[in-house]
Amino acid sequence: MPDLFPEDLEKWHYFESKLFQIFHSFDINEIRTPLLESTELFSRSVGNSSDIVNKELYSFLDRNKESISLRPEGSASIIRAIIQKKQEQDKHKVWYQGPMFRYERPQKGRFRQFHQIGVEYLGFDEGAADHELISMILQINQSLGISEYTLKINHLGDADAKESFCKSLVKFLEPNVNELHEKDKARLGSNPLRILDSKESSTIELLKNAPKYQDFISEESKVFLEGLVSAFKDQCDIQIDQSLVRGLDYYTGIVFETVSKELGSQDAFLGGGRYDNLSNQLGGKDMHSIGFAIGVERIVQLINMDDLSQKIKVGFIVSEEQINKKTYKIANDLRLANNSISLNTFLSNGSIKSQLRKANKSGCSFAVIIGEQESKNNQVIWKDLREKGEQEILSVQELINQYINL
Ligand code: HAM
Repeated sequence: MPDLFPEDLEKWHYFESKLFQIFHSFDINEIRTPLLESTELFSRSVGNSSDIVNKELYSFLDRNKESISLRPEGSASIIRAIIQKKQEQDKHKVWYQGPMFRYERPQKGRFRQFHQIGVEYLGFDEGAADHELISMILQINQSLGISEYTLKINHLGDADAKESFCKSLVKFLEPNVNELHEKDKARLGSNPLRILDSKESSTIELLKNAPKYQDFISEESKVFLEGLVSAFKDQCDIQIDQSLVRGLDYYTGIVFETVSKELGSQDAFLGGGRYDNLSNQLGGKDMHSIGFAIGVERIVQLINMDDLSQKIKVGFIVSEEQINKKTYKIANDLRLANNSISLNTFLSNGSIKSQLRKANKSGCSFAVIIGEQESKNNQVIWKDLREKGEQEILSVQELINQYINL
């Protein structure tokens, strides 16, 4: 469970601010749900046979001997919250963010506590909502300067199609069980669909002759999938991937992931899909829904900060004797005048020279310097730290005007 330091979080904040702008432009509202939920919520949604529930939940008994779990994902909690509020008949467009917990084997890009920012469109049938979410994903990637990625997409059909394909797959695999890789044998009884995305060569070989999912989904579903691909193929690398089934049981209909080679083996930085039956499954009314979640630790690795405009930093350097009400006020007035600039006060007893060194080291482009002489004359020194280090004397009002327009 990694710590996050200021140097990591600079990128996170940049990423979040871009996303919040996009959510605002799509008129999506924030929702917050608790980190702890009843374990049953996840076994009934993500699914008992999924690795997430079966092996990766952080579960324990509370003081009342009820089993509760740290949330491994966000969608189930959101559906629970809407059912509890009896709002399934309404339409909701919501976003959420926060830590998720999965007891996975830690490796590069895979953590036991990680963060997601997700979007859920609740109460929307297959159609325009699927389209809108995919265009939102493209917009997110574009706004972050991420262009080298593939959007893998598939259609799992409705619940009946999914069930009959599973049955047929099991029927085919059972007599050939010895040809399956050990890992996949275990999945045969619990979660046969996941065998489709096996990376094991013996399983891949066997699957060549297995029933094909596309033979089980309706013509309408196929046309819808192909329509999405053709709508976006000029804007990104979008590819139908028949083996994409996703690791959570609640999906039916469209499913998708965005992957990037730059991330190594844990290459998915966003995953999602449609889950039309989840509300029913959790005891609520019909609420056809679709959503996605971004893995924040992974997506920030794809953002190149060098390409992004850096925020301006100014050092506020005051000689020890002049740290008083008057200079506090100047710093305060500057922050009020333009809070997009970081005004760095060194809060130390160091000499002007040593504070200037700190300002240079911490990436300040300019410095405001106030020594005894300046203070007496109600003036400041404005110093450009970038190249020749030119400086000028300004009145406090001139400084504020300069600062506003920086
Ligand atoms: P998911 O594919 O399990 O989907 O997770 C979404 C994203 O979270 C992944 O693509 C990945 O970037 C990130 N992620 C998952 N596990 C880890 C981990 N252990 N360490 C780091 N990052 C990780 C869901 O969670 C669904 N709830 C998404 C969704 C929303 N579907 C519909 N609505």
